[in-house]
Amino acid sequence: MLRIDIVTIFPDYFRETFDFGIIRRARAAGLIEIKAHDLRSWTSDTHHVVDDRPFGGGDGMVLKPEPIFAAVESLTGARRREDISDGRRVVLLSPQGKQLTQAVAERFAKSEQLVLICGRYEGVDERVSEALVTDEISIGDYVLSGGEPAALVVVDTVVRLIPGALGSETSATTESFSDGLLDYPHYTRPPEIAGLKVPEILLSGHHAEIARWRKQAAEEKTKRNRPDLLRK
Ligand code: ADE
Repeated sequence: MLRIDIVTIFPDYFRETFDFGIIRRARAAGLIEIKAHDLRSWTSDTHHVVDDRPFGGGDGMVLKPEPIFAAVESLTGARRREDISDGRRVVLLSPQGKQLTQAVAERFAKSEQLVLICGRYEGVDERVSEALVTDEISIGDYVLSGGEPAALVVVDTVVRLIPGALGSETSATTESFSDGLLDYPHYTRPPEIAGLKVPEILLSGHHAEIARWRKQAAEEKTKRNRPDLLRK
């Protein structure tokens, strides 16, 4: 059972998303437990302030460290990274993080607890990244207005890797990235639309030749769309 705790100033952002697709299925099967927590519930002032002006000046506001430290302590029992037990990951979503890859998702899928902290505003007090979190993760080289969409991406990517979460046990391993290539092209009926035909070989029933065609098509597509993957 993987327990996922999301720490956010917008818990309602996630409400419906837990009731669809892979997350709903994994919850129903008892494979995960997932909850979005309001960061403001870990403030101690009457106005529940979670942000403050940056030391050194500059535009915008910075998420204060105290509510985040309090959230992590109440969810994991730990006040510093070194006290977080093996099997738990405390993840800060930020554009300054290491890139989310399939390998990272596979590691996260083996944990017993994932705490996902959604950054906001112009940034998060750096002491969270320095001393509290086990991983700082970015979903790509672009800037979101907050970590919430990134947390959803992490959850989806991780949950579908948990054994039993997908309909078919093989489908998570025979697709893009697990072998360093993009997935091969897929076709279904009809065999012809708008003059566009399904590659003849796929209709032939020759399994070995189909496998060879798919491998080659995956390599061609990878070369065309993601040549960087072939250089690794
Ligand atoms: N917050 C803002 N941009 C982000 C990104 N690219 N990845 C993760 N969290 C973010």
